[in-house]
Amino acid sequence: MNIFKGRSFLKEADFTPDEFYTLIKLAEYFKELKEKHIQHHYLAGKNIALLFEKTSTRTRSSFTVGAQDLGANAEFLGAHDIQFGKKESLSDTAKVLGSMFDAIEYRGFEQKNVEDLALYSKVPVWNGLTNDWHPTQMLADFMTIDELFGHIKGIKLAYLGDARNNVARSLLLAGSMLGAEIHLVGPKSLQPDAEVINLASQYSDNFLISDDLDKAVDGVDVLYTDVWASMGEEDLWESRIKLLQPYQLNAKTVAKTHNPNTVVLHDLPAFHDLNTTMGQEIFKKFGLKEMEITDEVFNAPYAHQFQQAANRMHTIKAVMAATLGDLFIPRALEL
Ligand code: CP
Ligand code: NVA
Repeated sequence: MNIFKGRSFLKEADFTPDEFYTLIKLAEYFKELKEKHIQHHYLAGKNIALLFEKTSTRTRSSFTVGAQDLGANAEFLGAHDIQFGKKESLSDTAKVLGSMFDAIEYRGFEQKNVEDLALYSKVPVWNGLTNDWHPTQMLADFMTIDELFGHIKGIKLAYLGDARNNVARSLLLAGSMLGAEIHLVGPKSLQPDAEVINLASQYSDNFLISDDLDKAVDGVDVLYTDVWASMGEEDLWESRIKLLQPYQLNAKTVAKTHNPNTVVLHDLPAFHDLNTTMGQEIFKKFGLKEMEITDEVFNAPYAHQFQQAANRMHTIKAVMAATLGDLFIPRALEL
């Protein structure tokens, strides 16, 4: 039986830890099918709306190619392409989309938007990133950890930087659900609020929130970082640079782990060489050549961010197939 069918994925806590882990295992199965060129059209005839208010490379491509691999049709609806937000309310938009599409992906600002889409559309809705959470990213991150270490339980992961943002919050929660030990490391003003700490505490008491870099990275298996200013926070670059420079992921940080087997992850996109138009603007304004991660670390053999990015597609396929399809979940994966 498929216990996922018809359900939305709006935040990590929508699933139990066992269900979350099952989706990772399902993604590993889909990766194998893809690598062996075995057809897996579990969603033939389904139509999926991809609603994006913020830009995206990995998430959009994962939903588009993943839907195609599953035999479904995905329609991209960008913020400037549809009436939503200008001439039409979210609830009306949701009712219309729900009458035409079998499921909706949403990337945007407020968590309430994705929750309301699910409420009014009455079809499964998947969170492709909001200001609060990035749940599909978590499946790929912990799948990559599972591939690299052979397990997730007991893995120590230190996230450095803006520890209040969507990725940091999601890492704390998903890691706690899956039995990993998460350390969120950043200045006091950028540490997670009580709400997310309380939520994580429901799953684990084995995590650390700290501004002490040396202590927090000592012995960890994984170092992880993300941009210092998230989408929609572009006016905060100056203050963020001042606050977060001590938390840059560089070769010295890697040495501070005292662990020769530490790996590096980054959800991407990364400001590692500022070789982009936005990077150039930042360089001109602040004179920095690298931001949250140095080019040296980004290109080191222990950095696995592109394996992590590739796993976005396999994990997103698992979410789509599980919640929308009549998938027979292989016995080994059944709960
Ligand atoms: N990591 C991630 O969500 O990438 P995109 O913004 O390119 O989708
Ligand atoms: N924290 C980043 C993640 C990008 C994938 C942002 O929200 O912009």
